[in-house]
Amino acid sequence: MTTLNTATPGASHQAIQHHYDVGNDFYQLWLDSTMTYSCAIWEEGETESALELAQIRKVDFHINQAKAKNAKRVLDIGCGWGTVLQRLVEVHGVEQAVGLTLSEAQKDWIAAKKHPQIEVNLESWLNYSPTEPFDAIISIGAFEHFVKPELSSNEKIDVYRTFFNRCHEWLKPGGSMSIQTIAYGKRKPEEVQKSLGAQFANQEIFPESDSPRLTEITAAAEGIFEVISIRNDRMDYVRTLQAWLTNFRSKRTEIINLVGKTVFERYERYLYLALLGFLTGDLLLLRLTFRRID
Ligand SMILES: C[S@@+](CC[C@H](N)C(=O)[O-])C[C@H]1O[C@@H](n2cnc3c(N)ncnc32)[C@H](O)[C@@H]1O
Repeated sequence: MTTLNTATPGASHQAIQHHYDVGNDFYQLWLDSTMTYSCAIWEEGETESALELAQIRKVDFHINQAKAKNAKRVLDIGCGWGTVLQRLVEVHGVEQAVGLTLSEAQKDWIAAKKHPQIEVNLESWLNYSPTEPFDAIISIGAFEHFVKPELSSNEKIDVYRTFFNRCHEWLKPGGSMSIQTIAYGKRKPEEVQKSLGAQFANQEIFPESDSPRLTEITAAAEGIFEVISIRNDRMDYVRTLQAWLTNFRSKRTEIINLVGKTVFERYERYLYLALLGFLTGDLLLLRLTFRRID
């Protein structure tokens, strides 16, 4: 593995690129066609083949929660391959959608589409400074990368507080924000971190990254954002991971030809361990809606 940068409180560019820049071709083989890489929203009785529909349902959920429909400017922090950005401008009447990512492969993927209403920046929220305010902010699956595992809980809250302060500054008065993140569940983070699965994930899969606890998020937002709603949809992640694993295993030969057997086995193990984490309740999947306190 590459030597990683320790100057940032969360995952550095190098750490993110270790994961996301395995290559667009690799992720295209097992994600759905929208290239959404986060937990979907499933309905009763849906089968794994409904993955794309369930992903779009999730994206629309966040767009509604953030009151982003027909807005002038919307920010997506951790925009991945641009599903939210594209849906904002093509379906939900948004004038301009701005995305932040630390992955060069993702930035290039979005920029190649040359959509006049979409701007993508290869930049952390920590260094970003917009020229105009936003009507709404969405962040799906990025909060898990904002702090390193070795920080204390108070240090993590300080980083999250900086994040909420920035979002408060960038949002117009009364603006809303919709966040989705994995969080620690029934066991203490210290206990989970000692498990072999977590050590493997921290070292091999998501270096320099750690998930929050719900109480750290609410402590960090207190006084600047009002909590409108919180959902824990961890079983939705079990179903999403099942769908990814099925796709992943069905493309075994192509994946091994592309990235080699070691990477194939590493990802298969990570998807399966994550599935177990959500199934047992060691991991939660939170969807939180906030309104700016003016
Ligand atoms: C799991 S992906 C989720 C992508 C997308 N939101 C989705 O649902 O498909 C996490 C994203 O967060 C981005 N990210 C991580 N840390 C970030 C930071 N400090 N600033 C901006 N983006 C960040 C990564 O580059 C990546 O695009």
